[in-house]
Amino acid sequence: MNDSKDMKIDSLGDWKRTHDCGCLRAGDAGKEVLLMGWVNSRRDLGNLIFIDLRDRDGITQIVFDPRIDRDSHERAHVLRNEWVVAVKGTVSRRLEGQENPNLPTGDIEVRIISLKILNLTETPPFQVDGAVDASEALRLKYRYLELRRHKVFNALRERHRIASSIRTYLEEKGFIEVETPFLTKSTPEGARDYLVPSRVNKGHFYALPQSPQLFKQILMIAGFDRYYQIVRCFRDEDLRADRQPEFTQVDLEMAFVNEDQVMGVFEDMMAVIFREILGYDVALPIKRLEYREAMDRFGTDRPDMRLGMELNDITDIAAGSDFRVFKGIVEEGGVVKAITVKGGGPAFSRKGLDELSGMVTDCGAKGLAWIKVTEDGWQSPLSKFFKDEDKRTLNKNLDAEQGDLILIVAHGRQIVNEALGVLRVEVAKQLDLIRAGSYSFVWITRFPLFEYNEDEKRLEAVHHPFTSPVEEDLKLLDKQPEKARARSYDLVLNGQEIGGGSIRIHNLAIQEMIFSILRISPEEAQSKFGFLLEALKYGAPPHGGMALGFDRLVAIMTGVSSIREVIAFPKTTSATCPLTDAPSSVDNAQLKELALRLIDPE
Ligand code: AMO
Ligand code: AMP
Repeated sequence: MNDSKDMKIDSLGDWKRTHDCGCLRAGDAGKEVLLMGWVNSRRDLGNLIFIDLRDRDGITQIVFDPRIDRDSHERAHVLRNEWVVAVKGTVSRRLEGQENPNLPTGDIEVRIISLKILNLTETPPFQVDGAVDASEALRLKYRYLELRRHKVFNALRERHRIASSIRTYLEEKGFIEVETPFLTKSTPEGARDYLVPSRVNKGHFYALPQSPQLFKQILMIAGFDRYYQIVRCFRDEDLRADRQPEFTQVDLEMAFVNEDQVMGVFEDMMAVIFREILGYDVALPIKRLEYREAMDRFGTDRPDMRLGMELNDITDIAAGSDFRVFKGIVEEGGVVKAITVKGGGPAFSRKGLDELSGMVTDCGAKGLAWIKVTEDGWQSPLSKFFKDEDKRTLNKNLDAEQGDLILIVAHGRQIVNEALGVLRVEVAKQLDLIRAGSYSFVWITRFPLFEYNEDEKRLEAVHHPFTSPVEEDLKLLDKQPEKARARSYDLVLNGQEIGGGSIRIHNLAIQEMIFSILRISPEEAQSKFGFLLEALKYGAPPHGGMALGFDRLVAIMTGVSSIREVIAFPKTTSATCPLTDAPSSVDNAQLKELALRLIDPE
């Protein structure tokens, strides 16, 4: 503890704080104030000692001057960063030229008449106020120190404000918050479950909910009509910047509604919170794209609509060229598609194009063709294979002018879409096309109901198995279920999926049919979701809902790149918590009580 072993620690006594550290202004000059906080930094000029005092609210410069109070000046010499102090003093304007325009309190300082040292600190493992940063593992181990940083704290305060604004909005609309169980049965949302062994019922396990899906549907059957919950969900899946093993949803369900009404609630909610929190006007209604169209035009089901560069189908002209590769692919039923990068010609060197080509092959395509439109026509490996007339037509169809770059991929439709979808985002990143603080929403609707799982050789629900098919596609369920579309919708913001939902099946016969298409046997359905199937027999109203990924929304609204930055105590990418050291082993007695024995992890 520095040179401070014998330091006397003061008690708070009857001192009461009068102000936070971020609020004093020039107009407060002359007031006597009492501040408390942490020593952020210290400049000891011998006769004068300046301290930046910090609390969650801000920083105030305090000054110890022996001519004002000899005793506190004396003790201030030993203060170190992160000590906890309380000070009494007088607000005064800083001398002219000494103001700090970077601090809201920068016009004033507080001249100290009395100091209490409330606590000391070990040398912190990293500087709270430091320019050099520590590793993430260290920062998470000492998360409370990192949380003292205003940037980190402010993101969490924004999170609180957004949650509070959502609550107010939903309550005004007549939604009531209901808590659903955490110790429950598996909810199929596509991830692995976290299991909790039962001591009382040995050999039996609860699953932590992947979402409150089944309970919220049961609440609709129970007549609750409009339910919401800001709720933790648990999914044991591989983690990324936008995924945590426990995360928060704004979960909602409504009875007697169609898609428009559920989507309407979320659109209005977005408009309200973006206005309240960011002063930003979301243009309503939010544009809708059917899944098929989104894939064709943007190559992804979560398009970033700010980027332009739509995918164009040039199969016909490409098939008429002399380029063997294109002809062959088209003959086999493949497609040729292109994006135009405005002004991209000079920006991409041979090496840059090779890198893009590498990304395309990672997606499974065989190569990337490119055309730079120049003053002298096409500069491209393809140039010799296209007639002048076709070149002109392609330029026109692709809106390509001098200086632009055309990127072309030929293959099966799915891979072409995916590859160009990836290129679109990469090119935008490299050319810095995305303006910070810009927001673009889009709904993606009518996803396929099922997708084929190659490993298990069976169909799988794209959303979850309780999602209603589009009415006119019901007739496809029998013979061509993979063609059936779902009454589902995802909300996409800046190229990230921030929410998803659907109109549910409220008819037992259809629910059973879906299970049979998914090859979930009646016995399995009964043991997994018997309670829902039973409930559907007792007057289930038509209903639907949606859940927002709250962490993702907050991350985008606060402009951070990972949801870890808007979670107070996040887990690492290997799902551990360096602060508490969870998960950890347990002793044998505990295992025995649960009737569990560990096998060798190998
Ligand atoms: P879904 O599984 O699409 O739908 O989840 C809804 C939203 O939650 C967010 N999300 C995550 N955020 C952080 N970490 C994760 N591991 C994670 N997984 C999902 C995403 C996603 O859009 N019960 C349905 C909703 C419904 O149908 O009403 C559900 O959970 O932003
Ligand atoms: P090659 O004739 O194989 O040398 O290819 C000529 C150009 O076409 C190169 O720039 C290749 O990267 C590109 N190319 C090859 N296969 C494809 C494909 N399937 N789609 C798009 N471009 C391709």
